[in-house]
Amino acid sequence: MRITVIGTGYLGAVHAACMAEIGHEVLGVDVDTAKIEALAAGRPPFHEPGLGEVLSRNVERGRLRFATSLAEAAEFGDVHFLCVGTPQKPGSNAADLRHVDAVIDGLAPHLHRETLVAGKSTVPVGTAARLTARVREAAPVGAGAELAWNPEFLREGFAVQDTLHPDRLVVGVASASADDLLRAVYAPMLGG
Ligand SMILES: NC(=O)c1ccc[n+]([C@@H]2O[C@H](COP(=O)([O-])OP(=O)(O)OC[C@H]3O[C@@H](n4cnc5c(N)ncnc54)[C@H](O)[C@@H]3O)[C@@H](O)[C@H]2O)c1
Repeated sequence: MRITVIGTGYLGAVHAACMAEIGHEVLGVDVDTAKIEALAAGRPPFHEPGLGEVLSRNVERGRLRFATSLAEAAEFGDVHFLCVGTPQKPGSNAADLRHVDAVIDGLAPHLHRETLVAGKSTVPVGTAARLTARVREAAPVGAGAELAWNPEFLREGFAVQDTLHPDRLVVGVASASADDLLRAVYAPMLGG
């Protein structure tokens, strides 16, 4: 399967490398060109046990590439994992969703074929419903772009292990086909 991981920070870099490790073709996308250059050279921009090996192995195999273009991501991916940051807003308990919104607004107009956008970032209740409407509005009419959520529970220091051998997978989907697609993505690590 062809997968994109948008936002290749802590969560996204690990997810991208591990998706390639289980056999998918992966394109990681970020706005930070220095981070993209390091990852493309097989160098993690932060320390996480085991990540360097998984990253460099899959870059060398040609299964894992990195870029900065959302148009390229839309062209490439069957499933797009959204892994951008959702920091706390200064002086408030609310999450700042501007990066999530920016990716949806930048990606959706390029989604010309049937695709699933699966959010992994930590977001408040109601975000997926709001973003579903945003995707419907911005994606080309009749293209069949859909949104799901697939929150992540990895622990720093155990991120590679937790991603390759999760003790749970949580998905929120609006259709049986989205459920099937996410099951197919994760099947190799579940012995399927
Ligand atoms: N780090 C963890 O252990 C962990 C665990 C579970 C869930 N999460 C959640 O995952 C999300 C990401 O966390 P993180 O720790 O990886 O954050 P991070 O700050 O390390 O990475 C976020 C990345 O998103 C990129 N980005 C920002 N705007 C972008 C855009 N418009 N297009 C493409 N890339 C963009 C940034 O350049 C950065 O590389 C957060 O919602 C966090 O709560 C993190």
